[in-house]
Amino acid sequence: MALIEILHFPDPRLRKKAIPVDKVDDQIRQTVNDMFETMYAAPGIGLAATQVNIQQQIIVIDVSEDKSAPVCLINPKIITKDGEEEMQEGCLSVPGIFETVRRAENITVQALDQQGVEYTLDAEGLLAVCIQHEMDHLDGKLFVDYLSPLKMQRIKKKMLKMKKLDASEQHNGSQSANII
Ligand code: NI
Repeated sequence: MALIEILHFPDPRLRKKAIPVDKVDDQIRQTVNDMFETMYAAPGIGLAATQVNIQQQIIVIDVSEDKSAPVCLINPKIITKDGEEEMQEGCLSVPGIFETVRRAENITVQALDQQGVEYTLDAEGLLAVCIQHEMDHLDGKLFVDYLSPLKMQRIKKKMLKMKKLDASEQHNGSQSANII
């Protein structure tokens, strides 16, 4: 298993649309395992393939506190949704930002599991929110898209500033290695 790099907003690759998985084979299962490892290490409760620059419809989720409820959704489709709920969301691709988003409260989703077997899942609360958030990722959408343009612009600026700081730290690191 291996950790995969998570893309950060406003990376344009987060806007790519994922395509359905043709066949759930060993390579897909490996990707799913790597995504679970990456999500748990982050740590996060959900990860979509788009976030690790893989344009396939694959999502991993675990909303439990002790990593005991892994859910893998391949080619997910929402069959029914009802109710409305507002919840504060964060995202591994937009670190440090938490904003309230309104989504459906209950959903029924159909997907393939890691073995390629189709199943139906009734989800509510955090799990339902998480599935909708991750399905947005597969569609090239981010939770900050639901915010006002002004707020979105502010977050974008903050992210770019953070990226610059990261880069200069790395630069300083390599420079100091050359001081002899
Ligand atoms: Ni996210």
